Amino acid sequence: MPKVVISSLESPAIVTIDAADGGQLVDLCDENATPVPFSCRSASCGTCRVDVLEGMEQLMAPEDEELDILDVFGDDPKKRRLACQAKMRPGLGLLRIRPVPVDV
Ligand code: FES
Repeated sequence: MPKVVISSLESPAIVTIDAADGGQLVDLCDENATPVPFSCRSASCGTCRVDVLEGMEQLMAPEDEELDILDVFGDDPKKRRLACQAKMRPGLGLLRIRPVPVDV
C-alpha cells in the first residue's frame, strides 16, 4: 500500500497516510487533515503547490493544466506539483511532500 508523508515548514507535525492504491492526492489531503492548503482546486491559483521531497515516481505525469500553472510560478514539474491535480499511481512506494509557503 502506498504511503504519503506530508511535512510542513510552519509546523513540526508530520502527517503520514497509508493510501489506497492510486487516486487523487487532494482526496487524501481532505480525508486526513494535512497542512496542504487548497483554494480553487482547479489548477488556477497555485495555493496547493507542494515540493516533492521523495517519490515523484509515485505520481502520474502532470497534465497540461497543471504544467501551465507550474510554469506561471516558474516551478520545475520534476520537483514541484499541484496537490489539487496530482494523481497517485497504484502500487507500493513512498511519497514525501511539503507544502510550498504561499509567498514563495
Ligand atoms: S488549489 Fe488552486 S491550483 Fe490547486
